[in-house]
Amino acid sequence: MSIVYLNGEYLPQQEARISVMDRGFLFGDGVYEVVPVFNGHLFRWDQHLNRLQRSLAEIRIDLDWDHDKWQKMLRTLLLKNPGRTQTLYIQVTRGAGVTRRHGFPTEAEPTVFAMLSPLESHLPDSLNKVSPIHAITLQDHRWQRCDIKSISLLGNVLHHQEALDAKVDEAILLNARGELTEGSATNVFVVKDGEISTPPADRNILGGVTRDLAIELINTDARYTCSERIIPKDELFLADEVWITSSNREILPVGVIDGCTVGTGQPGAVWHHVAGLYQAFRQQSGNAGLKPATN
Ligand SMILES: Cc1ncc(COP(=O)(O)O)c(C=O)c1O
Repeated sequence: MSIVYLNGEYLPQQEARISVMDRGFLFGDGVYEVVPVFNGHLFRWDQHLNRLQRSLAEIRIDLDWDHDKWQKMLRTLLLKNPGRTQTLYIQVTRGAGVTRRHGFPTEAEPTVFAMLSPLESHLPDSLNKVSPIHAITLQDHRWQRCDIKSISLLGNVLHHQEALDAKVDEAILLNARGELTEGSATNVFVVKDGEISTPPADRNILGGVTRDLAIELINTDARYTCSERIIPKDELFLADEVWITSSNREILPVGVIDGCTVGTGQPGAVWHHVAGLYQAFRQQSGNAGLKPATN
């Protein structure tokens, strides 16, 4: 049975309760993180914590948790939920006000929640077993602070459901100028003639931890280059390869967009190389991330 953390307690998921006055429930007033656990260790924890602290600061939630406090809670949670490959969800909301008012309540303490779940969608050991995903393009209808990892995900949820209703895996979003932003729950990369590009990490996208790692690995390896630039819709359809990235899905090739085949429709050579770099990095750092407490 899954043991979750809620406001200082570790308890079975079915027993965890929050107030109906919690602003996460009433307003979607909170932020979250999703962190993969590989080989029993949290992968890229420091980067996820940095983004969580940035999201908290951007929405003005004052949570006095330092690095050690996060570490202690998460090591205990990992100990209580043993597993080599999992996904950690953390949510912090502004807490419960006495009445429902838009303005920040002065009396509320932030609600802190964390849970671990099985992770099924990660890359298989052999990249040859990866099947390209299918996607549709949609106009991006979300708000103008997509850089904050907000729990107000209605826009993303509706876009993602539209993709599922169209029997594809992901919605690739375009702004009003027809430029690529990101996926409903992923970042997007395009490859043309060996040049890799991805949209800049401005307020229109979530700066993905996987995106940043992919850029770092590509630039360090130096076989290919990666530029962060505006990508018009046409380039999606002229690309040799398109990939999506996220913590849980890692780096996946896109084979079909809006019914049109991308490149050969099969995982491309550049994806193979970069996904290989990513896997090697994950294996090397497999024992270096935050791990369960030993007692
Ligand atoms: C909208 C959006 N963009 C990008 C990402 C990828 O971010 P990360 O690589 O940090 O998981 C996510 C992940 O949830 C997301 O929801």
